[in-house]
Amino acid sequence: MASTTALRPPRKAHTAKAQGKSSGGFHQSWYAIARSDEVGAGSVIGRDFLEGRAIVLRGENGQASVMNAYCRHLGADLSLGKGIGNDVQCAFHHWQYGADGVCTKIPASEKIPKAARIFKFPTVEKWGLIWAFNGIKPLFDVPEFVGYDEADLDIRTAEAFDLPVEPWVPFTNSMDFQHLRVLHGLKIECDPDAIEVGDYRIQYDVRFEDPNYGVFDQRIRVTGTNTIALAGRLSGMGILSMATGTPTPDGRTHGWSVTATPKNEGTDIERQSRLEIGEAFFRRLIQEDEPIMKTIHFHDGLLIDADRALARFLQYVRRFPTARPVAE
Ligand code: FES
Ligand SMILES: [Fe+2]
Repeated sequence: MASTTALRPPRKAHTAKAQGKSSGGFHQSWYAIARSDEVGAGSVIGRDFLEGRAIVLRGENGQASVMNAYCRHLGADLSLGKGIGNDVQCAFHHWQYGADGVCTKIPASEKIPKAARIFKFPTVEKWGLIWAFNGIKPLFDVPEFVGYDEADLDIRTAEAFDLPVEPWVPFTNSMDFQHLRVLHGLKIECDPDAIEVGDYRIQYDVRFEDPNYGVFDQRIRVTGTNTIALAGRLSGMGILSMATGTPTPDGRTHGWSVTATPKNEGTDIERQSRLEIGEAFFRRLIQEDEPIMKTIHFHDGLLIDADRALARFLQYVRRFPTARPVAE
């Protein structure tokens, strides 16, 4: 019988800091903010993001930049403005900012104050998504699948979920083996002690048997506290799935999924069918998790031996650095 005393439960996992939202802000991690195809060349969109709002600007040169949304002049929302060349122009008094956030033009003045700049988040475009790092400088690379390059994959990106919890909460799922077995019906083989837990990412291999598709061998990587990437092999063919969550100021998490398969494995029809299997597999997991994640009051007060891997995840979350770069 499982013991409730062998494992000391991590303390205060539900404190603001453990949740990644304290006076220190949210976890320093990569957050997807928009699909690449939502932002055309020379245009700008706005998104609620972290504790505030951000714009995604794509210059005419194709480069995407995520920046704080509020104009340095009087605070107008720059997503009401428009793209001009590689800059964004504020709708209110037409101040203009470049892709680095520095003001390039003030119609009413020849002189541009040094402080006329808005915070630019480190930005990367990958997997059909535009990602911003919550920090001045990225502490680690944008999430990847173990063993695959983007150029070698057919990729589908979609909006996947919206939950009233902070991003790290649904990602406790990744190392909550009890729920994978009983809620999702997966037979899992994984040694919790073989899980590599680093400062900014976690990696492990599992074999699981899905009731619909059979045996999946998965190389799993969790990056930050809000992204999981599964590089799976099913009947010798690659099916890759990534889920990532982004915090919004109302305390919710908006999620995206990326499904991929190697371009060089099988015919067009076979690749299509693998992408559909990957999406259906992931959709089933989300549907089964959703009612729980929509109502949970998460706490980790009573962990047992079977929660050993989950306890390691919660410790990793508690140690994770936070930041509020816009405020700084
Ligand atoms: S508020 Fe943006 S230019 Fe005045
Ligand atoms: Fe789950």
